[in-house]
Amino acid sequence: MSALTIVKYPEKILKEKTVPVKNIDGGLQKLIDDMIDTMYDSLGVGLAANQVGVSKQLAVIDVSVRDEKSPLIVLVNPEIVYSEGEVEAEEGCLSIPDYTTVLKRAVKVCVKGLDREGKPVEIEAEGFLARALQHEIDHLNGILFVDRMGRIKREFFKKRYAREKA
Ligand code: NI
Repeated sequence: MSALTIVKYPEKILKEKTVPVKNIDGGLQKLIDDMIDTMYDSLGVGLAANQVGVSKQLAVIDVSVRDEKSPLIVLVNPEIVYSEGEVEAEEGCLSIPDYTTVLKRAVKVCVKGLDREGKPVEIEAEGFLARALQHEIDHLNGILFVDRMGRIKREFFKKRYAREKA
C-alpha cells in the first residue's frame, strides 16, 4: 500500500461527477487499499476517489474516531436512497485544509451500493456516519461541502481561501 496525493480545492476534478465503476478488478483493489492508506495517513474519516485524482464512484469511510463501533466501509457506486430529518454540525474536508463550517445535513440516511467484492450492500446510518456518507457521496457527484453553504458565506470563503492560499 502507498499513500496517494490528495487533490485540493479548487482543482476541477473535485467539481466533476465521477464515473460508475464497471470492473471490480485487481486495479480497483489496489486503488481501494491505497485510498484507505491515504485516509488514515491524513487522519481523515472519509475519502472519495476524485480526491486522489481518479474519476470513479468509489469512497472509503472510517468514523471510528467518533464512533468506535463503526467499521471501515468501502463503497462502490453508492447512492442515497432515503434520508430523513435535518441537523447542523461542524464539517471539514481533506481537500479544503484548515477550513470548517457548520452545515445542515440529513440526520438519517439509507445508502445502497456495492462492497469491494461487488456484493450489494445497504447501510442505514445516523449521526456522524450519516454525515460522512452524505459528504463522500456529494464528492462523487462533484459537490464540495462549501457548495452547500449559503451564498454569502460561500463568497466569503472563496475570498478568504484565495487570499490565504495565494
Ligand atoms: Ni471531503
